[in-house]
Amino acid sequence: MTNERGTTMIPLVRRAAVVLATSAALLSGSLVTGAAQAAQPPAAEPGAAAATLRDAAEEQGRFVGTAVADGRLGNGTYTGIASREFSSVTAENVMKWDAIEPSRGSFNFAPGDRLVDFAQAGGQQVWGHTLVWHSQLPGWVANGGFNQTQLTQVMNNHITTVMDHYEGDVAYWDVVNEAFNEDGTLRSSVFSDTLGSGFIGTAFRTARAADPDAKLCINDYNTEGVGAKSNGLYNLVSSLLSQGVPIDCVGFQSHFILDQIPSTFQTNLQRFADLGLEVVITELDIRMNLPADSAKLQRQAAQFASVTRTCLAVSACRGITVWGFSDADSWVPGVFDGQGAACLYDQNYQAKPAFGAMLTALGGEPGGGDPGDPDPPAGPCQVTWRVTSRWNAGSVVEVGIRTTAAVNGWSATFALPSGHRVTSGWNAVFSQSGATVTAANAPYNGNVGAGGTIGFGFQTDNGGQYTPPTVSLNGTACTAA
Ligand code: G3I
Repeated sequence: MTNERGTTMIPLVRRAAVVLATSAALLSGSLVTGAAQAAQPPAAEPGAAAATLRDAAEEQGRFVGTAVADGRLGNGTYTGIASREFSSVTAENVMKWDAIEPSRGSFNFAPGDRLVDFAQAGGQQVWGHTLVWHSQLPGWVANGGFNQTQLTQVMNNHITTVMDHYEGDVAYWDVVNEAFNEDGTLRSSVFSDTLGSGFIGTAFRTARAADPDAKLCINDYNTEGVGAKSNGLYNLVSSLLSQGVPIDCVGFQSHFILDQIPSTFQTNLQRFADLGLEVVITELDIRMNLPADSAKLQRQAAQFASVTRTCLAVSACRGITVWGFSDADSWVPGVFDGQGAACLYDQNYQAKPAFGAMLTALGGEPGGGDPGDPDPPAGPCQVTWRVTSRWNAGSVVEVGIRTTAAVNGWSATFALPSGHRVTSGWNAVFSQSGATVTAANAPYNGNVGAGGTIGFGFQTDNGGQYTPPTVSLNGTACTAA
């Protein structure tokens, strides 16, 4: 079974990357260029504390996600962290209406497809954001002068076309986003003004018909604590459920201000959970007045931990997504003058105290487990080799090579079983001669510091369960990690 993108639809399972033969340019003799994607590191050893957010979250039965900016998918540092730390990705902008259907009936799926490909290569879930929203709405919808019948058709066509395209690839959709005013009444928008409050039920019913397996969510901000706005949302969701409208989850964006996390957060999540819904923290960040200092960063860390514990305390809270993981990419400074430093990593992609606090709250341990193991490695390089997905005509393999010495340009070689071919790959430039595959650094990831890890991955044309081969780095055989 395939969806509109030609993706073979396999249920999303942890780290079962669904990378598709249809999208793989078959290697006709030698060269496959690396896509800007990073292989994830190995999971923590059994018994060892998880060292990454995604492993720690998984041990709690939760996902941990990040919004991903399309413009950063070519940045190896960014993609490395995004793949290593997060098990879910949300399209920060590329699946919004203005990006995906900029003019009527004309759909631009390429950037969204890029995100899905990235996610699948790293075994990540995709969260679709967002189908019906008053903002980032193209003029042809916002000012189109459509009557009720026409706008219903426009909205339903948008939902159906986008969800059909990503059917099987997107696990959750924000079907309706930010529908409420601060006082809990319905926000005025072209949708509510033209269609009345019924547009929400219509949107969800259309979404269910388009992809019966996707989880359908209503998402908003300033609804985290009990109050007028969350009461409005609660009343509407309760009423829609009683009418049989297919809603599966409520997203709480959680764009917080330092020291202002609502004390009723858990109570509020729980009352929505008690309606039988999943609840998810969908856009977490905690901003502060700049400049940041160590006292503020410590309080921020404690508050990231507290939000994390709040989710863990509510069994229906399925996951937490941060709205960008680095201060370098955050939307906050562009919107709130003089505020920022809202994320887990700083402007230079260095982990802030908040990262360690969130990891610890998830039950992990900074530096624990395999990734980031501080023990000095033995020998010049150590390899992890993981077959993350297999099907009848293909396998996805992810390779990590930890190098003892700094390298300035690298080339890794290994042999595949006779007749097996690399068909596509990422984070390296691949060539193959007979059984021998060479993966050389891409332009952006040639320099790796002492103790750093080179990560790349590839897909083959054979579903064999590969025994890890000997991998050589710059001509020297590595040991197994
Ligand atoms: O794509 C255009 C580009 O063509 C143009 O050259 C450039 C010039 O400014 O603008 C680009 O569009 C920007 C877009 O992000 C993509 O980068 C918009 O100006 C900018 O306003 C937009 O901001 C996004 C914002 O939503 C828009 O509402 C932020 O990146 C994004 O983080 C933010 O995310 C929202 C969630 O969707 C919903 N919840 C709140 C959250 C924060 O505002």
